[in-house]
Amino acid sequence: MRAALIRRLQHRMLMKHENTVAFLKSRKLHTINRTIWKSQLPTSNASITTIQRRKLSVTNNSKKPRILITGAIGQIGTELVTYLRDRYDNKSIIASDVKMPSGDNALLEKGPFVYMDVTDYSQIARIVVEYRINCVIHLAALISAVGEKNPQLAMKVNNLGTENVLEVARVNELKVYVPSTIAAFGPSTPRVNTPNMCVMRPTTVYGITKVYNELLGEYYCRRYGVDFRSLRYPGIISNKAMPGGGTTDYAVEIYHEAIKNKSYNCFLKDDTMLPMMYMPDCLKATCMMLEADSSKLKSRVYNVTAISFTPKQVYDSIKKYIPDMKIEYKPDFRQAIADSWPKSIDDTEARNDWDWKPEYDLDFMTKDMLDALRKKYIV
Ligand SMILES: NC(=O)c1ccc[n+]([C@@H]2O[C@H](COP(=O)([O-])OP(=O)(O)OC[C@H]3O[C@@H](n4cnc5c(N)ncnc54)[C@H](O)[C@@H]3O)[C@@H](O)[C@H]2O)c1
Repeated sequence: MRAALIRRLQHRMLMKHENTVAFLKSRKLHTINRTIWKSQLPTSNASITTIQRRKLSVTNNSKKPRILITGAIGQIGTELVTYLRDRYDNKSIIASDVKMPSGDNALLEKGPFVYMDVTDYSQIARIVVEYRINCVIHLAALISAVGEKNPQLAMKVNNLGTENVLEVARVNELKVYVPSTIAAFGPSTPRVNTPNMCVMRPTTVYGITKVYNELLGEYYCRRYGVDFRSLRYPGIISNKAMPGGGTTDYAVEIYHEAIKNKSYNCFLKDDTMLPMMYMPDCLKATCMMLEADSSKLKSRVYNVTAISFTPKQVYDSIKKYIPDMKIEYKPDFRQAIADSWPKSIDDTEARNDWDWKPEYDLDFMTKDMLDALRKKYIV
């Protein structure tokens, strides 16, 4: 009886001791964790810069680029994939989208093409690991006009997609390029020569998501040292893939209609001035920003532009080559979007920091567009 009592007492003491040890261990672990956590927290600008430099030197090493491109069959992706495959090599550029490329199958044939939905973290993480990716060019997004038709989906794809890409980049120390847009500006932004840093209060869901993307990318760069880079593109004009539902789409459609029908119904007013850029300049700017020496980048997000023009001016430019071209102006809901955007952009900082300079003006672009589309439509 007495022996049993002693055994029970010993057992209780042992349990108490083990609990105390476990408690002390967990406190110690907690303290260690807190110390690590605290040491990672930027406490001043100086420590932010230290973390940033440490990680950037890892991601900016001389490793051969292995680039994952999201939203690769969109207007920009279609041409950027080919451009980068020519610049590096076919196998190192992994194109991805949620849709199959239609028509020209160069994207499928010349290099890897995978299904990847950017709203699913694990899909991105898997492709990054399996293809040994060290850079993501994140193009997948719902752009201005389609975004206004489905704001909930725009928030999901644009916000969650970028959050996922940045998280995968943080975990795997990847470089990340996410284009922004002039739609990130709003009606209270200075509309002429809009500077790199100014009031940004967009009124479209697309613009709101892009401001979030910019700020989140800068946060990941500051907080975790992710080598995040972004350019605010103006309206991009190209002759391969059609644009994906933006407000500057008229400036592409007008050339197609000029060749096909010699007439165009424009959804913006004749005097709506917007900043634009021809695709070869867009590809050049993207590559320059991607390859720029990190130490030269005073900012992680830059304005870039090439030309500003109105529908009337692009019509006049086309008439130099197709004199009997006709145009009618029937503004729709996109007019209000265009009216909230800058008329022209100041990209002095990009010019100063990494030598950005566009090559195409309006007439040079018009001639090139018409030549390319003639070959496409008139065999
Ligand atoms: N084209 C322009 O004029 C312009 C101007 C400024 C900024 N940008 C930016 O450049 C980027 C590319 O634009 P774009 O014009 O090529 O767009 P786009 O609309 O032509 O292409 C977007 C692509 O994203 C894909 N996509 C949609 N949801 C997806 C998902 N959940 N997962 C994976 N892919 C998905 C679509 O299938 C499509 O191929 C966008 O971030 C856009 O904001 C474009």
